[in-house]
Amino acid sequence: MLRALFALILTMMMTVAATAQESAPATESEEFQPRSGAPTLEDILARQRGEDVDLSWRLDQTGTAAAGISEQLGTLGGASNSDVFLALRYGTADVTVSTNAPAAGVLIQDRGMWWYQVREGWLSTWGGYLLLGTIVALVLFYLLRGRIMIDGTKTGRTITRFSGFERFGHWLFASSFILLGISGLITLFGRPLLIPLLGKDAFAPLALASKWVHNNVAWAFMLGLVIIILNWTVHNIPNKHDLKWLAKGGGLFTKGSHPPAKKFNAGQKLIFWGCVVMGLSISASGLSLLFPFELPMFAKTFTILNDTGIPQALGLGILPEQMAPHEEMQFAQLWHSIVAFVFMAMILAHIYIGSVGMEGAFDAMGSGEVEEQWAKEHHSLWVEEVKAKQASSGSATPAE
Ligand code: HEM
Repeated sequence: MLRALFALILTMMMTVAATAQESAPATESEEFQPRSGAPTLEDILARQRGEDVDLSWRLDQTGTAAAGISEQLGTLGGASNSDVFLALRYGTADVTVSTNAPAAGVLIQDRGMWWYQVREGWLSTWGGYLLLGTIVALVLFYLLRGRIMIDGTKTGRTITRFSGFERFGHWLFASSFILLGISGLITLFGRPLLIPLLGKDAFAPLALASKWVHNNVAWAFMLGLVIIILNWTVHNIPNKHDLKWLAKGGGLFTKGSHPPAKKFNAGQKLIFWGCVVMGLSISASGLSLLFPFELPMFAKTFTILNDTGIPQALGLGILPEQMAPHEEMQFAQLWHSIVAFVFMAMILAHIYIGSVGMEGAFDAMGSGEVEEQWAKEHHSLWVEEVKAKQASSGSATPAE
């Protein structure tokens, strides 16, 4: 009897449970009517997929549009917790903090997700393609053109191309650049590429070392940049020979073609000015990253750019002129990396032509002495200048 009663109760309970399940709302969105700016499941899922969500109706619930927090409308006051979080998220909350640090009053920075997705996605993908594409192009160039040899008969005489101080400046700049490039790439590609390869335990000290190298070697890079600017700017002012040199592709693509050039040819001038402009820009954004929130520069730059009308003409719309301190840092990081990728691609080509790509080139930065025939083929006008100076002063081969 007891058993029969127990079975009956069990059956009844299961039937009730099944009925309750059937009558549950089909989807959350059909039943749920958002109040006070609460997010819907669709909003959250769309945001997670990286899609744009129209949040204007939620934004209207914050700031001055919301009831004052001190009004007597229950235990939470005039604003519910979600109102407070929304206002914090959209920067309309009246936040008071006990420190004067520039970013302390920002408790939620909504645009951070945008930056994170660009950094992990677009930036890493296209930056990686740019470097790999440059390496492939250089390999193809080597296979098609081969090493650029000294065409004429070598004289056995050398001519001084760069003084010790010039070479010191070059190698300080170059070695620090290489260290910064490698440590920067480890930082950017560590999580997606190196952790799966090495494991987290092995990657951690590498990441720490990369950060140390990157933050400290930056000073050597900036010093190197100053030295090369002081040493070489005067030799890199464009002249009439540059256009002719460029028209002939510098003779790089045709055997036996040697367009005349002074100390630096047009190709080298492009490399030099590329180093100066990108070196200064990467140093500025690097300093902004090294001293967080102390050197914001993007809101100001965007205001100036907006006034020129260029961003609008390019279809970028009005660039943000007011941003949270964190967003300044995020723009600094993105710009720093974009410039670094272009800079690295350019320098890969430079390293190729200064080493395996051209016979006799490396000596200029190695010993500082180059074969006279090499100098005549690649810098004929400079050789004439050096010889004229030698003749007038009676001195040995000066480095001018
Ligand atoms: C192992 C790597 C490198 C090698 C073998 C190398 C080699 C050379 C050589 C041989 C020259 C003199 C060319 C001539 O006599 O006309 C030169 C010049 C120069 N290098 Fe490098 N370099 C290297 C890395 C770098 C790096 C990393 C930078 C900058 C970030 C750099 C910037 C320059 C500049 C601005 C010049 C003067 C302009 C020019 O010749 O293009 N170099 N380099």
